[in-house]
Amino acid sequence: MFQKGLKNVVAAETAISLVDGEQGRLIYRGYAAKELALNFSFEEIAYLIWYGSLPKDHEKQMISELLKNNRVLPSHVHELIQMLPCNMEMMSQIRTAVSALGTEEFGWKPTVEQAIRLTAAIPTITAMIYRKINGEEMIEPNMEFSHVENYLYMLTGKRPSPSHTKALEAYMILTMEHGMNASTFAARVVASTESDMVSAVTGAIGAMKGPLHGGAPTGVIDMLNEITKKEEAEPWIRQKLEKKEYLMGFGHRVYRTRDPRAEALSEITKRIGADDPWLELASYVETLAVQLLDEYKPGRRLNTNVEFYAAAVMRAINMAPSLFTPTFTVSRMVGWTAHTIEQSMDNTIFRPEAKYVGKQPTENEGSLKA
Ligand SMILES: CC(C)(COP(=O)(O)OP(=O)(O)OC[C@H]1O[C@@H](n2cnc3c(N)ncnc32)[C@H](O)[C@@H]1OP(=O)(O)O)[C@@H](O)C(=O)NCCC(=O)NCCS
Repeated sequence: MFQKGLKNVVAAETAISLVDGEQGRLIYRGYAAKELALNFSFEEIAYLIWYGSLPKDHEKQMISELLKNNRVLPSHVHELIQMLPCNMEMMSQIRTAVSALGTEEFGWKPTVEQAIRLTAAIPTITAMIYRKINGEEMIEPNMEFSHVENYLYMLTGKRPSPSHTKALEAYMILTMEHGMNASTFAARVVASTESDMVSAVTGAIGAMKGPLHGGAPTGVIDMLNEITKKEEAEPWIRQKLEKKEYLMGFGHRVYRTRDPRAEALSEITKRIGADDPWLELASYVETLAVQLLDEYKPGRRLNTNVEFYAAAVMRAINMAPSLFTPTFTVSRMVGWTAHTIEQSMDNTIFRPEAKYVGKQPTENEGSLKA
Protein backbone atom coordinates (compact mmCIF):
# COMPACT_ATOMS: atom_id res chain seq x y z
CA MET A 1 0.00 0.00 0.00
CA PHE A 2 1.34 3.46 -0.92
CA GLN A 3 0.32 6.45 1.22
CA LYS A 4 1.87 9.76 0.17
CA GLY A 5 3.42 11.55 3.18
CA LEU A 6 2.50 8.50 5.31
CA LYS A 7 -0.84 10.27 5.96
CA ASN A 8 -2.89 8.23 8.48
CA VAL A 9 -0.20 5.52 8.60
CA VAL A 10 0.62 4.37 12.14
CA ALA A 11 4.42 4.18 12.23
CA ALA A 12 5.11 3.55 15.95
CA GLU A 13 3.54 2.87 19.32
CA THR A 14 3.96 5.60 21.91
CA ALA A 15 2.99 6.16 25.53
CA ILE A 16 4.15 9.79 25.50
CA SER A 17 1.22 11.73 24.05
CA LEU A 18 -2.16 11.33 22.39
CA VAL A 19 -3.25 13.81 19.73
CA ASP A 20 -7.01 13.25 19.46
CA GLY A 21 -8.20 15.26 16.46
CA GLU A 22 -11.88 14.32 16.67
CA GLN A 23 -12.40 15.31 20.29
CA GLY A 24 -9.78 18.08 20.35
CA ARG A 25 -7.71 16.51 23.11
CA LEU A 26 -3.96 16.61 23.67
CA ILE A 27 -2.91 14.20 26.41
CA TYR A 28 0.59 13.96 27.89
CA ARG A 29 1.17 10.66 29.73
CA GLY A 30 -2.48 10.48 30.79
CA TYR A 31 -3.00 14.17 31.68
CA ALA A 32 -4.72 16.90 29.63
CA ALA A 33 -1.93 19.17 28.33
CA LYS A 34 -4.14 22.22 28.86
CA GLU A 35 -4.42 21.59 32.61
CA LEU A 36 -0.70 20.90 32.82
CA ALA A 37 0.14 24.14 31.02
CA LEU A 38 -2.05 26.21 33.30
CA ASN A 39 -0.94 24.63 36.59
CA PHE A 40 2.61 23.29 36.36
CA SER A 41 6.14 24.40 35.54
CA PHE A 42 8.21 23.54 32.45
CA GLU A 43 10.55 21.46 34.64
CA GLU A 44 7.68 19.41 36.12
CA ILE A 45 6.18 18.62 32.71
CA ALA A 46 9.55 17.78 31.18
CA TYR A 47 9.93 15.30 34.05
CA LEU A 48 6.47 13.88 33.28
CA ILE A 49 7.29 13.49 29.58
CA TRP A 50 10.63 11.76 30.28
CA TYR A 51 9.76 9.61 33.30
CA GLY A 52 6.01 9.04 32.78
CA SER A 53 4.77 10.43 36.13
CA LEU A 54 4.51 13.85 37.76
CA PRO A 55 7.47 14.53 40.07
CA LYS A 56 7.22 14.31 43.86
CA ASP A 57 8.76 17.20 45.82
CA HIS A 58 12.31 15.79 45.95
CA GLU A 59 12.11 14.88 42.25
CA LYS A 60 11.03 18.45 41.41
CA GLN A 61 14.10 19.69 43.19
CA MET A 62 16.29 17.12 41.44
CA ILE A 63 15.07 17.94 37.90
CA SER A 64 15.39 21.71 38.47
CA GLU A 65 18.93 21.30 39.77
CA LEU A 66 19.97 19.06 36.88
CA LEU A 67 18.56 21.46 34.30
CA LYS A 68 20.35 24.37 35.98
CA ASN A 69 23.65 22.50 36.25
CA ASN A 70 23.76 21.88 32.50
CA ARG A 71 23.01 25.44 31.32
CA VAL A 72 26.61 26.48 30.78
CA LEU A 73 27.89 25.45 27.35
CA PRO A 74 31.11 23.48 26.84
CA SER A 75 33.85 25.91 25.76
CA HIS A 76 34.18 24.43 22.25
CA VAL A 77 30.46 25.10 21.57
CA HIS A 78 30.91 28.64 22.80
CA GLU A 79 33.84 29.14 20.44
CA LEU A 80 32.03 27.51 17.54
CA ILE A 81 29.05 29.88 17.91
CA GLN A 82 31.41 32.86 17.82
CA MET A 83 32.86 31.56 14.56
CA LEU A 84 29.57 30.99 12.72
CA PRO A 85 28.91 33.63 10.05
CA CYS A 86 26.16 36.15 10.73
CA ASN A 87 24.63 35.51 7.31
CA MET A 88 23.80 31.93 8.39
CA GLU A 89 20.11 31.57 9.32
CA MET A 90 19.41 31.41 13.05
CA MET A 91 17.89 27.91 12.90
CA SER A 92 20.93 26.67 10.95
CA GLN A 93 23.24 28.12 13.59
CA ILE A 94 21.21 26.43 16.34
CA ARG A 95 21.33 23.10 14.45
CA THR A 96 25.12 23.38 14.07
CA ALA A 97 25.73 24.31 17.71
CA VAL A 98 23.47 21.50 19.01
CA SER A 99 25.29 19.05 16.75
CA ALA A 100 28.59 20.11 18.36
CA LEU A 101 27.29 18.94 21.76
CA GLY A 102 27.68 15.36 20.52
CA THR A 103 30.79 14.28 22.35
CA GLU A 104 31.40 10.69 23.43
CA GLU A 105 29.07 10.87 26.45
CA PHE A 106 26.22 10.75 23.95
CA GLY A 107 26.75 7.20 22.74
CA TRP A 108 24.06 4.54 22.36
CA LYS A 109 21.72 4.06 24.26
CA PRO A 110 19.84 7.33 24.75
CA THR A 111 19.20 8.21 28.41
CA VAL A 112 17.23 10.78 30.42
CA GLU A 113 20.55 12.27 31.57
CA GLN A 114 21.41 13.02 27.95
CA ALA A 115 17.91 14.46 27.39
CA ILE A 116 18.39 16.80 30.36
CA ARG A 117 21.77 17.99 29.07
CA LEU A 118 20.34 18.86 25.65
CA THR A 119 17.21 20.51 27.06
CA ALA A 120 19.31 22.58 29.48
CA ALA A 121 21.79 23.68 26.81
CA ILE A 122 19.46 24.70 23.98
CA PRO A 123 18.10 27.92 25.61
CA THR A 124 21.69 29.08 26.19
CA ILE A 125 22.63 28.24 22.59
CA THR A 126 19.55 30.05 21.23
CA ALA A 127 19.98 33.16 23.35
CA MET A 128 23.69 33.37 22.59
CA ILE A 129 23.10 33.09 18.82
CA TYR A 130 20.22 35.59 18.92
CA ARG A 131 22.32 38.16 20.73
CA LYS A 132 25.34 37.55 18.52
CA ILE A 133 23.22 38.13 15.37
CA ASN A 134 22.04 41.40 16.95
CA GLY A 135 25.61 42.43 17.78
CA GLU A 136 25.12 42.01 21.54
CA GLU A 137 27.27 40.33 24.18
CA MET A 138 26.18 36.94 25.47
CA ILE A 139 24.47 36.88 28.88
CA GLU A 140 25.59 34.07 31.17
CA PRO A 141 22.78 31.87 32.56
CA ASN A 142 21.40 32.85 35.96
CA MET A 143 21.35 29.87 38.31
CA GLU A 144 18.64 31.37 40.52
CA PHE A 145 16.04 31.53 37.76
CA SER A 146 13.71 28.81 36.49
CA HIS A 147 14.22 27.30 33.03
CA VAL A 148 11.82 29.65 31.21
CA GLU A 149 12.66 32.71 33.31
CA ASN A 150 16.35 32.16 32.59
CA TYR A 151 15.68 31.77 28.85
CA LEU A 152 13.93 35.16 28.74
CA TYR A 153 16.65 36.66 30.91
CA MET A 154 19.43 35.42 28.61
CA LEU A 155 17.61 36.89 25.60
CA THR A 156 17.00 40.33 27.06
CA GLY A 157 19.38 40.80 29.99
CA LYS A 158 16.41 41.71 32.20
CA ARG A 159 14.53 39.62 34.73
CA PRO A 160 11.12 38.97 33.09
CA SER A 161 7.86 39.70 34.90
CA PRO A 162 6.10 36.68 36.46
CA SER A 163 3.15 37.11 34.06
CA HIS A 164 5.40 37.07 30.99
CA THR A 165 7.28 34.05 32.31
CA LYS A 166 4.02 32.19 32.98
CA ALA A 167 2.63 33.01 29.54
CA LEU A 168 5.76 31.75 27.77
CA GLU A 169 5.92 28.76 30.09
CA ALA A 170 2.36 27.74 29.14
CA TYR A 171 3.25 28.08 25.45
CA MET A 172 6.43 26.03 25.93
CA ILE A 173 4.59 23.28 27.83
CA LEU A 174 1.92 23.11 25.13
CA THR A 175 4.50 22.83 22.34
CA MET A 176 6.81 20.41 24.15
CA GLU A 177 5.32 17.35 22.51
CA HIS A 178 2.84 16.54 19.74
CA GLY A 179 2.90 12.90 18.66
CA MET A 180 4.43 11.80 15.38
CA ASN A 181 4.95 15.22 13.75
CA ALA A 182 7.63 15.55 11.06
CA SER A 183 10.55 16.51 13.34
CA THR A 184 9.75 13.86 15.94
CA PHE A 185 9.47 11.25 13.21
CA ALA A 186 12.86 12.44 11.88
CA ALA A 187 14.36 12.01 15.38
CA ARG A 188 12.91 8.49 15.69
CA VAL A 189 14.20 7.48 12.25
CA VAL A 190 17.75 8.56 13.18
CA ALA A 191 17.49 6.88 16.61
CA SER A 192 16.25 3.67 14.95
CA THR A 193 19.68 3.22 13.31
CA GLU A 194 21.17 3.13 16.86
CA SER A 195 22.79 6.47 16.19
CA ASP A 196 23.19 8.83 19.17
CA MET A 197 20.66 11.24 20.68
CA VAL A 198 22.51 14.35 19.48
CA SER A 199 22.33 13.12 15.87
CA ALA A 200 18.62 12.40 16.32
CA VAL A 201 17.79 15.91 17.59
CA THR A 202 20.07 17.54 15.03
CA GLY A 203 17.99 15.84 12.32
CA ALA A 204 14.83 16.97 14.09
CA ILE A 205 15.99 20.60 14.11
CA GLY A 206 16.60 20.31 10.37
CA ALA A 207 12.97 19.22 9.96
CA MET A 208 11.67 21.90 12.32
CA LYS A 209 13.39 24.61 10.26
CA GLY A 210 11.17 23.95 7.24
CA PRO A 211 8.26 26.40 6.83
CA LEU A 212 5.71 23.58 6.56
CA HIS A 213 6.51 22.50 10.12
CA GLY A 214 8.01 25.13 12.41
CA GLY A 215 6.36 27.95 10.46
CA ALA A 216 6.12 30.87 12.82
CA PRO A 217 2.84 32.49 13.76
CA THR A 218 3.94 35.64 11.95
CA GLY A 219 1.08 35.24 9.43
CA VAL A 220 -1.39 35.84 12.26
CA ILE A 221 0.43 38.97 13.36
CA ASP A 222 0.45 40.25 9.76
CA MET A 223 -3.30 39.59 9.47
CA LEU A 224 -4.12 41.50 12.66
CA ASN A 225 -1.79 44.32 11.69
CA GLU A 226 -3.66 44.64 8.39
CA ILE A 227 -7.13 44.49 9.97
CA THR A 228 -6.33 47.13 12.67
CA LYS A 229 -9.98 47.63 13.82
CA LYS A 230 -13.15 45.59 14.30
CA GLU A 231 -15.12 47.22 11.46
CA GLU A 232 -12.47 46.16 8.96
CA ALA A 233 -12.48 42.50 10.01
CA GLU A 234 -15.51 41.18 8.10
CA PRO A 235 -14.71 42.70 4.66
CA TRP A 236 -11.03 41.71 5.07
CA ILE A 237 -11.84 38.06 5.89
CA ARG A 238 -14.54 37.78 3.18
CA GLN A 239 -12.13 39.14 0.59
CA LYS A 240 -9.50 36.54 1.52
CA LEU A 241 -11.98 33.67 1.46
CA GLU A 242 -13.48 34.81 -1.85
CA LYS A 243 -9.97 34.84 -3.33
CA LYS A 244 -9.60 31.25 -1.93
CA GLU A 245 -6.70 32.33 0.27
CA TYR A 246 -6.01 30.64 3.62
CA LEU A 247 -6.57 32.43 6.92
CA MET A 248 -3.49 31.99 9.07
CA GLY A 249 -4.09 30.43 12.48
CA PHE A 250 -7.09 28.35 11.33
CA GLY A 251 -7.45 24.73 10.19
CA HIS A 252 -5.38 21.72 11.20
CA ARG A 253 -4.38 18.38 9.67
CA VAL A 254 -5.51 16.43 12.76
CA TYR A 255 -7.82 18.62 14.90
CA ARG A 256 -11.41 19.03 13.79
CA THR A 257 -12.31 21.12 16.83
CA ARG A 258 -10.64 24.17 18.33
CA ASP A 259 -7.01 23.12 18.89
CA PRO A 260 -6.75 22.40 22.66
CA ARG A 261 -3.46 24.31 22.75
CA ALA A 262 -5.22 27.41 21.36
CA GLU A 263 -7.86 26.94 24.08
CA ALA A 264 -5.26 27.06 26.86
CA LEU A 265 -3.27 29.92 25.34
CA SER A 266 -6.40 32.01 24.89
CA GLU A 267 -7.02 31.73 28.64
CA ILE A 268 -3.44 32.72 29.37
CA THR A 269 -3.50 35.72 27.05
CA LYS A 270 -6.74 36.93 28.62
CA ARG A 271 -5.06 36.79 32.03
CA ILE A 272 -1.98 38.75 31.01
CA GLY A 273 -3.45 41.22 28.60
CA ALA A 274 -6.99 41.91 29.81
CA ASP A 275 -6.84 45.57 28.75
CA ASP A 276 -4.77 45.14 25.59
CA PRO A 277 -6.87 46.37 22.61
CA TRP A 278 -4.82 44.18 20.26
CA LEU A 279 -5.94 41.07 22.17
CA GLU A 280 -9.54 42.24 22.14
CA LEU A 281 -9.30 42.60 18.37
CA ALA A 282 -7.67 39.12 18.15
CA SER A 283 -10.53 37.55 20.07
CA TYR A 284 -13.13 39.35 17.89
CA VAL A 285 -11.36 38.27 14.67
CA GLU A 286 -11.16 34.68 15.92
CA THR A 287 -14.92 34.38 16.52
CA LEU A 288 -15.78 36.03 13.23
CA ALA A 289 -13.25 33.98 11.22
CA VAL A 290 -14.61 30.68 12.56
CA GLN A 291 -18.17 31.76 11.59
CA LEU A 292 -17.10 32.85 8.12
CA LEU A 293 -14.99 29.72 7.53
CA ASP A 294 -18.12 27.69 8.28
CA GLU A 295 -20.09 29.83 5.80
CA TYR A 296 -17.49 29.55 2.99
CA LYS A 297 -16.29 26.00 3.76
CA PRO A 298 -19.31 24.23 5.26
CA GLY A 299 -18.64 20.79 6.74
CA ARG A 300 -14.82 21.21 6.74
CA ARG A 301 -14.85 21.89 10.51
CA LEU A 302 -12.18 24.60 10.36
CA ASN A 303 -11.23 25.98 13.75
CA THR A 304 -8.59 28.03 15.54
CA ASN A 305 -5.17 26.35 15.72
CA VAL A 306 -2.27 26.85 18.15
CA GLU A 307 -0.56 29.43 15.93
CA PHE A 308 -3.36 31.95 16.38
CA TYR A 309 -2.83 32.25 20.13
CA ALA A 310 0.89 31.55 19.97
CA ALA A 311 1.06 34.81 18.02
CA ALA A 312 -0.94 36.55 20.73
CA VAL A 313 1.32 35.24 23.51
CA MET A 314 4.50 36.12 21.65
CA ARG A 315 3.25 39.61 20.96
CA ALA A 316 2.09 40.11 24.54
CA ILE A 317 5.54 39.25 25.90
CA ASN A 318 7.38 41.26 23.18
CA MET A 319 9.15 38.24 21.69
CA ALA A 320 10.88 39.14 18.41
CA PRO A 321 9.36 37.28 15.41
CA SER A 322 12.81 35.88 14.53
CA LEU A 323 12.63 33.94 17.82
CA PHE A 324 9.28 32.21 17.20
CA THR A 325 10.62 29.05 15.51
CA PRO A 326 13.76 28.87 17.71
CA THR A 327 11.58 29.09 20.84
CA PHE A 328 9.35 26.29 19.53
CA THR A 329 12.62 24.32 19.07
CA VAL A 330 13.72 25.04 22.66
CA SER A 331 10.47 23.53 23.99
CA ARG A 332 10.19 20.61 21.52
CA MET A 333 13.61 19.33 22.60
CA VAL A 334 11.78 17.57 25.45
CA GLY A 335 9.49 15.64 23.08
CA TRP A 336 12.28 14.71 20.67
CA THR A 337 14.53 13.35 23.40
CA ALA A 338 11.65 11.39 25.00
CA HIS A 339 10.79 9.81 21.65
CA THR A 340 14.44 8.93 21.05
CA ILE A 341 14.52 7.07 24.37
CA GLU A 342 11.18 5.36 23.66
CA GLN A 343 12.41 4.28 20.21
CA SER A 344 15.55 2.76 21.71
CA MET A 345 13.53 0.70 24.20
CA ASP A 346 11.86 -1.44 21.52
CA ASN A 347 13.79 -0.65 18.40
CA THR A 348 13.25 -1.72 14.81
CA ILE A 349 15.07 0.27 12.17
CA PHE A 350 12.72 2.33 9.96
CA ARG A 351 13.05 1.02 6.44
CA PRO A 352 9.90 1.57 4.36
CA GLU A 353 9.65 0.62 0.71
CA ALA A 354 9.43 3.00 -2.24
CA LYS A 355 7.18 2.29 -5.21
CA TYR A 356 9.47 2.24 -8.24
CA VAL A 357 8.06 4.38 -11.06
CA GLY A 358 11.30 4.60 -13.10
CA LYS A 359 12.28 2.87 -16.31
CA GLN A 360 12.76 -0.92 -16.63
CA PRO A 361 15.86 -2.28 -18.40
CA THR A 362 15.49 -2.60 -22.18
CA GLU A 363 15.81 -5.95 -24.00
CA ASN A 364 19.29 -5.19 -25.37
CA GLU A 365 20.57 -4.23 -21.88
CA GLY A 366 23.18 -7.02 -22.17
CA SER A 367 24.96 -5.10 -24.96
CA LEU A 368 25.55 -2.03 -22.75
CA LYS A 369 29.20 -1.20 -22.27
CA ALA A 370 30.71 0.98 -19.57
C1 LIG B 1 -3.07 23.53 8.73
C2 LIG B 1 -3.44 23.21 7.31
C3 LIG B 1 -2.14 23.03 6.49
C4 LIG B 1 -4.21 21.88 7.27
O1 LIG B 1 -4.38 21.53 5.97
P1 LIG B 1 -5.21 20.25 5.51
O2 LIG B 1 -5.52 19.32 6.63
O3 LIG B 1 -4.49 19.70 4.36
O4 LIG B 1 -6.58 20.87 5.13
P2 LIG B 1 -7.03 21.14 3.68
O5 LIG B 1 -6.01 22.04 3.07
O6 LIG B 1 -7.29 19.82 3.02
O7 LIG B 1 -8.36 21.94 3.87
C5 LIG B 1 -9.67 21.42 3.77
C6 LIG B 1 -10.55 22.51 3.19
O8 LIG B 1 -10.57 23.63 4.10
C7 LIG B 1 -10.00 24.79 3.49
N1 LIG B 1 -9.11 25.40 4.47
C8 LIG B 1 -8.27 24.77 5.33
N2 LIG B 1 -7.63 25.63 6.12
C9 LIG B 1 -8.08 26.85 5.75
C10 LIG B 1 -7.78 28.15 6.19
N3 LIG B 1 -6.91 28.38 7.16
N4 LIG B 1 -8.40 29.19 5.60
C11 LIG B 1 -9.28 28.98 4.59
N5 LIG B 1 -9.62 27.76 4.14
C12 LIG B 1 -9.03 26.72 4.70
C13 LIG B 1 -9.24 24.29 2.26
O9 LIG B 1 -9.23 25.26 1.24
C14 LIG B 1 -10.03 23.08 1.86
O10 LIG B 1 -11.14 23.52 1.12
P3 LIG B 1 -11.77 22.59 -0.04
O11 LIG B 1 -12.32 21.38 0.67
O12 LIG B 1 -12.81 23.44 -0.66
O13 LIG B 1 -10.65 22.24 -0.97
C15 LIG B 1 -4.31 24.33 6.71
O14 LIG B 1 -5.52 24.40 7.42
C16 LIG B 1 -3.61 25.67 6.68
O15 LIG B 1 -2.75 25.92 5.83
N6 LIG B 1 -3.96 26.61 7.63
C17 LIG B 1 -3.40 27.94 7.64
C18 LIG B 1 -1.95 27.94 8.12
C19 LIG B 1 -1.84 27.67 9.61
O16 LIG B 1 -2.51 28.29 10.43
N7 LIG B 1 -0.95 26.69 9.93
C20 LIG B 1 -0.70 26.33 11.29
C21 LIG B 1 -1.12 24.93 11.58
S1 LIG B 1 -0.87 24.51 13.28
